Formats: sequence, C-alpha cells, structure tokens
Amino acid sequence: MDKLGSLCKRRGFIFQSSEIYGGIGGFWDYGPLGVELKRNVKEAWWRDMVTGHDDTIVQPGSPREYEMCGLDCSIIMHPQIWKCSGHYDLFHDMMQTCRQCKKMFRADHVWEQLKDAPWVLSFAEASSEPASVPELIKFNSVAAMNWAKTKGRKLAPGLALVRNTEVTMSWLAEDLQTNPELQLGVTTLLKYMATEQKARTGLVSPCPLCGGDLTEPREFSLMFESHAGAVKDDENKVFLRPETAQGIFVNFKNVLDSTRVKIPFGIAQIGKSFRNEITPRNFTFRSREFEQMEIEFFCKPAESRQWYTYWRDRRFAWYTSLGMKSEKLRLRDHAAEELSHYSCGTADIEYAFPFLEAGDYGELEGVAHRGDFDLRSHMEGKLVKDAAGNLVVDRGPDGKPKYAGSGKDLSYFDDEAKERFVPHVIEPSAGADRATLAFLCEAYTEDAIPDEKGVPQARVVMKLHPRLAPVKAAIFPLVKRDGMPEIAAKIYRDLKQHWNVFYDEKGAIGRRYRRQDEAGTPFCITVDGQTLTDQTVTIRDRDTCRQWRVKSGDIHNEIANRLTAS
Ligand code: GAP
Repeated sequence: MDKLGSLCKRRGFIFQSSEIYGGIGGFWDYGPLGVELKRNVKEAWWRDMVTGHDDTIVQPGSPREYEMCGLDCSIIMHPQIWKCSGHYDLFHDMMQTCRQCKKMFRADHVWEQLKDAPWVLSFAEASSEPASVPELIKFNSVAAMNWAKTKGRKLAPGLALVRNTEVTMSWLAEDLQTNPELQLGVTTLLKYMATEQKARTGLVSPCPLCGGDLTEPREFSLMFESHAGAVKDDENKVFLRPETAQGIFVNFKNVLDSTRVKIPFGIAQIGKSFRNEITPRNFTFRSREFEQMEIEFFCKPAESRQWYTYWRDRRFAWYTSLGMKSEKLRLRDHAAEELSHYSCGTADIEYAFPFLEAGDYGELEGVAHRGDFDLRSHMEGKLVKDAAGNLVVDRGPDGKPKYAGSGKDLSYFDDEAKERFVPHVIEPSAGADRATLAFLCEAYTEDAIPDEKGVPQARVVMKLHPRLAPVKAAIFPLVKRDGMPEIAAKIYRDLKQHWNVFYDEKGAIGRRYRRQDEAGTPFCITVDGQTLTDQTVTIRDRDTCRQWRVKSGDIHNEIANRLTAS
C-alpha cells in the first residue's frame, strides 16, 4: 500500500487535500491522472447502468425488461428528509474521548487499535509472560512499575500507571487480595493500568495513543451541519447529505409524473456525499467527502426477491468486466442478524485492500433489498419496527408521528393489473472513490522487462482496464529529427479527437515507455526510421510489451478495436 500511495502522489493520481497547510484528515484531491481515472469509473458506471441499458430486451439473469433513468439532486435538502429517513436519530457512531490527549475513538475500534498500539506492545513485553491458560497472563508488577518509570513515560504519558504508579497499582493489589480468583486477562490488566480513581470511575479503557482514560461511549452524529440563510439558529439548520439515495426517493413522484417510466424501473444518481467520519483512514477508503453511485430500483413487492438477486449478481459482474478478476474481489451475503431492520436481504461486494490484515475484506458496494421502507417513510413519517416486527410510524407520547412524513401519495398504480401498491426497492449503492481505489490496487503490478541489451529491468505497471485508463495511447517520435516529431504530432492530433492521448518527445524511448506503464496507458505508438520509408509505426502493448507494426492510416481503427475488445 505504501508503494501504491507514493506512486499515486508521484504520478498525480491522488493528493492529500490542503497538503501545503499540513493536510486535513479525511479529504483527498485527485490529480491530473486521478481525475481522468475517476471520471472513467463514473462514466463506465453511468454508461453501463443508465444510458447504455437496453430496455427493449430481457437482460441476462433479469426477471424481465426494465427501464433506467438518472437524476442529479442537490446536496442540501429539506432537513425533514433526514428525520423521516432515520438518519437524524440513527446515523451516529458511539465515541470515546481520551481525557488526557482529548483524541476521539470509535468505541467499537478501541480494542482493535489497542492490540497494535506501540505502548501496549512495549508494556506487554516488559511486564508479562504467557500463563498456562492462554487467554490469561502472568503479570510481573515490579517490571510493570519499572516500565512505567522508563519507557512508559515516553510511550504512554497519559496512562494512569505512568502518571501515578503507586495509586494505580494499589487498586489491582487490593482487588487481588480480596478476590484471589480475579482472572487477569490482557483486557482486564490494561483497564487496571488505565484506572487511577477506581472508586469514582470504575475500571476505564485506555487510549490507544497515549494510554489516558477514555470516557464512556457517547453518541456522535456523522452528518455535517450548516445553516441555510442569514441566521444561524436551529430553524435554519441543514445537513450535507450523507448519501445520494434520499434525493431519489423524494423525487420518485416527479420522475413518474414527468416521464413514461413504468415499474420495474431504476433511478440512478452519482454525486458527493459527506460523513463526519471519526476515524477517516486507509487512504481514500474512509473519507469525509466522497462520491456515491447509487441506484434505487422500484419493483412489485412479489418480484422483489428476484430483482434483488439480479442486481446483486449484475453489480458483481460489473467489477469483473472492468478487470477486477482476482480472488481479492468477493460477494458476501449478510447473515440475518446483520440486516438492517427494514431489509430482507443484503450483500456486500468486497475487496481485499492491501491495507487490511490478511483474510480481511473492505466494502466496495452494498446491494440491499429495502422493501417499502423508504417510500413509506417519506409518505407517513419515520418508521420503526413494532414488537411483531411490522414497520409502524414512530409516535411520541402524544400519539403524533415523531417526524411527520410529506403526506404525499408515493404509491404506484399498475394500469395493467389495476392494482395500487407501494413499490419495493432494491438499492445497489457503490462508492466511486472506493471503486477507484480498488481498481488502482488491482492494477498495481511489479514485473521485470528486458532493456535494449536484453537485461531484465524492474518496472511498475498499472494494468488498468483500457476503459478506465486515464490516457488511452501515447505517441512518440523515436528521435527529435528527420521529420519524426511532425509525423508523430499529426497522429497525436488525429487521435486526440477521439480519446485522451499524450504526446512525448523527451528522453530515452525506454524511459518514455516506462512512464506510460506507470500511468496505465495501454498503448504506445512510436514513429521511427522505418516510418519514413513505409509509413508504418510500432504499437506497443503495455502488459505484454509486445510490439507490432501498423500502417499510419490504420492506427485509429487498430486502437479503437483493441480498446473495445478488452
Ligand atoms: N444508501 C446506502 C448507503 O449509503 P453505505 O453502505 O453507507 O450505504 C454505500 O454506503 C457505499 O458508499 C459504500 O459501499 C462505499 O463504497 C461508499 N462509502 C460509504 N462511506 C464512505 C466513506 N466514508 N468514504 C468513502 N466511501 C464511502
């Protein structure tokens, strides 16, 4: 991952946002190559899902024909939308703050982060040895106190054991005396080491960074807030959308009334979403500003399970069609207990990103069966599940809806079957940034190719699918004389009318090839001495390095055929 990260910066795929001011966590900028790559990812998605969709035939695996259309909604919408959708009440993380260094941590990540924290590893090495029962440890209190006064000062200045060694140890000694059966596992031991005022606070969890005592978990909203209008009061509070999906639901009736689409049909949207993630990390994987590519597919309730299966498989196949062919990509059906309260089926398309531990996968896209939850929420008001498992309007003590819906009728009248129903929704929800990152990870390859003397030379090559490659072809004159630059420039100008191509006449030809390999350019076209006599050029394939000759007049067709054949 470090190698890919430095390639991204060096070659202009991805930069840290605001870097000259020290950067800002969770925000990223796409450089000259990255912007083309990400645009190509989004354009491939839009083309394959929306404009290229043929609604006159039954697609392979699909229950029947369906229509697709698109939307582009505003980022800031009526705040009631987020109250009815459930985001206002439910879209938060449980957070713990360190009372010493003031850093915040997601409660469900604390112990995972502690496992690898430098101070924990150092403390464990100095003070404990394995006991006969594997999950328990044999604790050397004298060694622990020595550690606190030496390495601990530097590594864990916030740890109670370091700040007040004797008092902290006394709680453990006292408890071991009164309860000789006390089981000393790693978690319990670390809690004792982090607790200075046990009588007042009980055992606390330590901070992964400084060892300080963490607060109890508290709710932290993930939605960014702002104010619309001049007055910054609660009346004018608005939210930056945390997903593009709600814009589609609230426009469902507009689309029905302004087009002739009939169920089943899907509405697609690509756009920015914002989440105030507490621990943005792993490059662009978890960002605070990112782009989503979402489809809300509306269908008859009785057919919804078939459509769910269709979309799950279709979306998985989309990634493989764009070159993500390794075993690093997988489809994982959620177990029943993982499902949201309104969902009868969800699958994640996941990728084994290199920054994850071996065997771990990160979500690229979720495909969810959402039932009639969303349309009903925007008609009736925020919904909750009752004791019998039915979705009902969440009501306050006065019996009124906690958050009232729009009151608009979002049901659908099927004029063939003469029946009215609230459509069910299948939602394939992908992230453009995560997909771009996964395509970059999948493309990154190190190999060796022979130089002019036949000696193998290490190279880095981005084996991006030609549809996604930022630059489709590079055109080089072998040398800067004998009319070669003029011929190459003409080829460049001709091809530029069709694709993003690149002209380069500087440096040794081998170096020019390798720069394009790093950029992921699938084809390099070279004008050489033979061109002057027979009007042919060489075309070099990025992945195999094979070269063949083509007549100048055939270059366009040759590149076009190869770009579409891949
Ligand atoms: N409307 C459903 C929804 O938003 P989600 O699983 O929260 O579902 C969908 O998000 C996709 O959006 C994810 O699979 C991921 O690709 C992308 N995504 C979500 N949070 C993200 C973040 N903080 N940074 C980058 N991408 C993110």
